[in-house]
Amino acid sequence: MDSIVIEGGVPLRGAIQIHGAKNAALLLQCAALLAPGVSTLRHVPRLADVRTMNRLLRHLGCTVEGEETLTLDTTKVADGPLAAPYELVKTMRASVTVMGPLLGRYGRARVSLPGGCAIGARPIDQHLKGLAALGAQIELDHGYVVARCKRLRGASVVFDKVTVGGTQNVMMAAALAEGTTVLENAAREPEVQELAVVLNKMGARIRGAGTAVVEIEGVDTLHPVDHAILPDRIEAGTYAVAAAITGGDVFLRDAPVDHMHAVLAKLEEAGVQLAVEAGGLRVRGPDRLDPVDVSTRPHPGFPTDMQAQFMVLASCAHGRSVITETIFENRYMHVPELLRMGADITVNGPTAVVRGPTRYLGTTVMATDLRASASLVLAGLVAEGRTEILRVYHLDRGYEAVERQLAPLGARITRYHDARA
Ligand code: UD1
Repeated sequence: MDSIVIEGGVPLRGAIQIHGAKNAALLLQCAALLAPGVSTLRHVPRLADVRTMNRLLRHLGCTVEGEETLTLDTTKVADGPLAAPYELVKTMRASVTVMGPLLGRYGRARVSLPGGCAIGARPIDQHLKGLAALGAQIELDHGYVVARCKRLRGASVVFDKVTVGGTQNVMMAAALAEGTTVLENAAREPEVQELAVVLNKMGARIRGAGTAVVEIEGVDTLHPVDHAILPDRIEAGTYAVAAAITGGDVFLRDAPVDHMHAVLAKLEEAGVQLAVEAGGLRVRGPDRLDPVDVSTRPHPGFPTDMQAQFMVLASCAHGRSVITETIFENRYMHVPELLRMGADITVNGPTAVVRGPTRYLGTTVMATDLRASASLVLAGLVAEGRTEILRVYHLDRGYEAVERQLAPLGARITRYHDARA
């Protein structure tokens, strides 16, 4: 198992390229199932989650080739099992979003329930509610959701809760339904919008994606697509925090600034200097960071996927910051590890009070989930001495070669292929 070792204390300087967005890539991989033939995705990040989705697509009968440019041939899916097994769904919850495309195109799907997840219960009731409203018959069978339909029919769906995956799953199913579907209280994340853009390129008729009301006029067939994936706003945000806390000066090439307003506003509030320049975003860390309160919200609010990273930023600031997590329960698993490195954080239910500035001291820490791992890398970058991060596979789910991104900026960061290096 890989580990990462960081010798902290170096202000990061230079430029890095932001990769394609993980959360868009995963959904576009699913969307390819909606059309017969070969779809091509470009700027695909090299991530463990993308590879897991490829494994699932192969299991379904797709021919998958390439990495950064991915071709997905769905010709043989009709002869496959139309099923997503537990082994794959349990490692990556986004696997449940094959359900909408499979139902829409083939009229049946058997998908394992995701089960408990490290960052909370994460049910899929809203996905199922939406698909049922479109006419799918849904049963639970030995831990699997079995869904069937003749042809889905357009319907009105009001989500009880804003759900990114639920909105995307139902949107994909509705693209091939008969008649018009209206989704209310839809998620407005850029990746929802990106999915709609791609579905429309495939021949779908979707309006309103990126707002809370999405209208989908069903069509009979969709055709394959060739699409370059938008850059990853969470990767960009994470490296912006890295530049800020190390007092560095980093240019984030292709950072999707239009999708990062909430994060950029909080960085500015903390005293970080930002400049939108041609082709990207320049981030300069101040001598002294100010405290900043953050509460996670669905887009365009502050993203939960940046909460752990901002906790490190807050701990480097001079004063008291309050961080509130409203999207997921139990998303503070990075806190005990940050405490071991010297942070002063008190968690009370969804609220964490962070007192800074922390003098981080390097030690051996354990990554527990994707964004928690990112926070440990960030703490390692400012820590005195050597930080060893174990279970880096969590990080590899969402960050392409973090050491190859950070080392050219001056970071002393090394990956070891043996956990006890
Ligand atoms: C997506 C992102 C993930 C991000 C999250 C919230 C992908 C692949 N993943 O995950 O990185 O952290 O959005 O921005 O895009 N919920 C229900 N019932 C449902 C569905 C969700 O109660 O049927 C709850 C969840 O438990 C959670 C909240 O709604 O508390 C938001 O979840 P959701 O937006 O669905 O997250 P994901 O799509 O899984």
